[in-house]
Amino acid sequence: MRLTLSVIKADVGSVGGHTKPSSHMMAAVDVEVGKAIATGLLIDGFVCHTGDDIAIIMTHTRGEGSSEVHQFAWKTFLAATSVAKTSGLYGAGQDLLADAPSGNIRGAGPGVAELSFEHLSGRRPAESFMVFAADKCGPGAYNLPLYLAFADPMYCAGLMLPPMIKGFRFHVIDMDCTAGDSVIELDAPADNYHIAALLRDNERFGIDRIVSQTYGEVAAAVSAQRLHAIAGKYTGKDDPVAIIRNQGIFPAPEEIVSPFAKAHFVGGDARGSHVMPLMPVPLNTPVTGMYCLPIVSCAGFSIDKEGRFSESYTDFFDNPAWDEVRRRAQSKAIEMRSQGWSGAAMLPYSELEYGGFRDTVSALLKRFRLREERKPEAAE
Ligand code: 13P
Ligand code: 13P
Ligand code: MG
Ligand code: MG
Ligand code: MG
Repeated sequence: MRLTLSVIKADVGSVGGHTKPSSHMMAAVDVEVGKAIATGLLIDGFVCHTGDDIAIIMTHTRGEGSSEVHQFAWKTFLAATSVAKTSGLYGAGQDLLADAPSGNIRGAGPGVAELSFEHLSGRRPAESFMVFAADKCGPGAYNLPLYLAFADPMYCAGLMLPPMIKGFRFHVIDMDCTAGDSVIELDAPADNYHIAALLRDNERFGIDRIVSQTYGEVAAAVSAQRLHAIAGKYTGKDDPVAIIRNQGIFPAPEEIVSPFAKAHFVGGDARGSHVMPLMPVPLNTPVTGMYCLPIVSCAGFSIDKEGRFSESYTDFFDNPAWDEVRRRAQSKAIEMRSQGWSGAAMLPYSELEYGGFRDTVSALLKRFRLREERKPEAAE
């Protein structure tokens, strides 16, 4: 059976500011997912949230970009928006940027990550995968951790084993391109320096997918897109999701999560305008810290032969080992924010996506004047 995994997530409203969706919103999404399973649209579905973003994790046989699956997700987010509106929640419908998009909803606001594979083929007698969901951060938040997991044996010793030693092909997308998906394919390890040269720019270049060079199997898919490129203005942070298959011909879970122990700095945080560490958190964590720290969750699943999820999931970052990382993330955050708006603590002008920051500086630029006494002589 050719199985597709789709993760579609959106922020369609939250309680008490941009913290978390309400329980009624989550229940409304659960009901719709239950109906879609009952009608056979989906084989299975799981709903969770990270900060104010609701993620719907689905299995089905309709392929990537399926109009039916995407339209189902859109309508489900509309139903949750309507609950949010009734309760007077903040940012109701925030990520639904297009007006009734037809078919595939990629580029309409919600984050979409999808990949397909021949389920339980000989080479993979059991299917296991992880879903990462991040809130309050930019689209390239996974660039560094996924590079380290799939291209650096210091993090993934498994890369030295025969099934992985040929390396992985990185599909890197230029998120500034508005004409369509503009993608380059680069092979790790041969092109590692080229891959790094692009992925260092988390705001412009993102990993779109990662493919095994030995088997041609897709290992990872990421929702790399920039909301402000879609909306033409700041409408909230991009908050990417990613699906990563693990074990066997792919890195093991611990090799995939260990780069997150860095709590690396990403663009995001308050008003989407700061540079702050990415804190790993359990599923369904609200954003309530003293800043507006970028957070990431990671859920693991297995899939039975019918394509259904295991009866329980693994919450990777809900473990005392990650308390140490959370403490370090918080102390890095305090350090960075102690310099307020200065220099590296905030994103550069080009990335200050809230229209307001640009407007403030643009108005001031109009008031600059050349000093009379310093004008070049030729101008006298
Ligand atoms: P066990 O399956 O024996 O627990 O070991 C798994 C492993 O090899 C760790 O990557
Ligand atoms: P999201 O609504 O996209 O999570 O971002 C909110 C924000 O701008 C942080 O201040
Ligand atoms: Mg929000
Ligand atoms: Mg969000
Ligand atoms: Mg957002």
